[in-house]
Amino acid sequence: MIDAMDVRIEPADVTDLHQVLEDHARYWGERDLRALHVTALVQEFGSTCLVARADDGIRGYLFGFVTPDHTGYVHLIATRDDARGTGLGRDLYTAFIEAAGRQGAVRLKAITSVTNEGSIAFHRTLGFDARTVEDYDGPARPRVVFTRELRPTR
Ligand SMILES: CC(C)(COP(=O)(O)OP(=O)(O)OC[C@H]1O[C@@H](n2cnc3c(N)ncnc32)[C@H](O)[C@@H]1OP(=O)(O)O)[C@@H](O)C(=O)NCCC(=O)NCCS
Repeated sequence: MIDAMDVRIEPADVTDLHQVLEDHARYWGERDLRALHVTALVQEFGSTCLVARADDGIRGYLFGFVTPDHTGYVHLIATRDDARGTGLGRDLYTAFIEAAGRQGAVRLKAITSVTNEGSIAFHRTLGFDARTVEDYDGPARPRVVFTRELRPTR
């Protein structure tokens, strides 16, 4: 049983990126999303690229950034196979909202494939609106687009 008390959510560095790539299947299963793990994200958007660190390694991560129009965009979020359903995905989002909010984010956005039912259920639980955009990734390449407004904290 894993212990949420021992998890620290912190900015990611390039070593973390390489570590999650080595263990890619534990976060993504059979899907190969390695090409989306871009070094520039971690190097240039370090404070909004987060890892959940524990004694037994990286239990989950969220790589995102804030766009010039104040959208906190989540490029990748995954929790390790033994850490699912423990609230870690929610905690990563909470930490991202804090970090993105400090940079002026007023809304969140994320994308997933139309077949990723787990991600759709997870994002809906977190209060996102989910809609399918037919040509999001080009002709006949639909994606589910998640959006959520952020309430001002002050
Ligand atoms: C999607 C993912 C990040 C969720 O992480 P998680 O740590 O399991 O999520 P949490 O435990 O924080 O769950 C938060 C809420 O979402 C719900 N939820 C999470 N995954 C769910 C699923 N597959 N089906 C239904 N509900 C789900 C939980 O029940 C929980 O609800 P509650 O707070 O009301 O109890 C994780 O399943 C994952 O890494 N999947 C593989 C990678 C992936 O597809 N990432 C998304 C790409 S966009």
